[in-house]
Amino acid sequence: MPLTKCEKITVKLSNAEDDRSYDIYVGRRLIEFAGQLIKPHLKRNFTVIVTDENVAKYHLADLQASLSTQEIECEAIILPAGEKSKSMAVLEQLLEQLIEFGGERNDVITVLGGGVMGDLAGFAASVLRRGVDFVQIPTSILAQVDSSVGGKTGINSPHGKNLIGAFHQPKLVLADIDILDTLSDRHIRAGYGEILKYALINDFAFFTWLNENGTKLIAGDKDARQYAVVQSCKSKANIVSQDEKEHGMRALLNLGHTFGHALESHTEYSDRLIHGEGVAIGMVLAFEFSSFLGFNNGGEINIIKQHLADIGLPNDLSFKGLHPLPSAQEMLDLMLQDKKTEQGNLTFILANGIGKSFVKKNVDKTLALNFLASKNFA
Ligand code: GLY
Repeated sequence: MPLTKCEKITVKLSNAEDDRSYDIYVGRRLIEFAGQLIKPHLKRNFTVIVTDENVAKYHLADLQASLSTQEIECEAIILPAGEKSKSMAVLEQLLEQLIEFGGERNDVITVLGGGVMGDLAGFAASVLRRGVDFVQIPTSILAQVDSSVGGKTGINSPHGKNLIGAFHQPKLVLADIDILDTLSDRHIRAGYGEILKYALINDFAFFTWLNENGTKLIAGDKDARQYAVVQSCKSKANIVSQDEKEHGMRALLNLGHTFGHALESHTEYSDRLIHGEGVAIGMVLAFEFSSFLGFNNGGEINIIKQHLADIGLPNDLSFKGLHPLPSAQEMLDLMLQDKKTEQGNLTFILANGIGKSFVKKNVDKTLALNFLASKNFA
């Protein structure tokens, strides 16, 4: 498979003082070209790979082989898989190992993994020697279409998710469509929740395409997967280029997340509900809340719910993993932990319709509580 089969999207981040723009490559068997694509970013022929034990089993040898074709030496740090690795303890262990490998200020870290590894190792890169470069090879759909792009890095605190972190943009992102073959069905479907998000935010034509091709994508069609990853990355690159630090429109990328994160918190970030499932249910709730507030007539909610059902994603509060459900007040309290809350007031991403989302600040808590009470929250 030639490299020409791959597509390139640029995240434009340049101003008069600096240019931190970078490319996202999306394509087939891209890991075989990783050495060739990473090499121009190296000051010396050396990189440290950070990955987790699950990903290492499937993909580490391929990455090492690709680096060696370009005579790039590497060390590998293999960490435990799972959200628990986004902790201060694992960050400290990672930083110490990176220092022990004798890395220099100009070295580049290569992150091979899903959202957890990207967030953790990206944050380590942001603080190691006051900041070193890193490249991302995202291995889940969720990471390919969302977390590896845009420079949000960080770890969790006992007080909440992603509360310790930094904006630190990668130098390069390599989204290999074939790597997705090693994901479980559940994680493929959950990653799809983040793809659908881009359509619901501002791209009705993409929603139409997903309605026609989404089930093919889930079933493993590589062209459909590549098209959806490219469209999602284009959409994210466009938003991040305009609002890197989330002062405005980048908040749109949180469609469904205020409800979704609260549900994830209720289920203690366990396998009862994984992130993309929470986002799927959260997006339906966001459309329903928009209708409750009079921003849309509710006519499209069943279309979205049917699409989620066709994909095999949960679309309402009957999802088993959520039970027992929190009360409306408990749900509201969980939602108030959201990072978009300002001076105790909620911010929601609402929608006038499919592809017509907008940011709404200062949403009255009583209205939110009334809406929650009108759903199945006790
Ligand atoms: N995942 C949301 C963002 O990158 O802003």
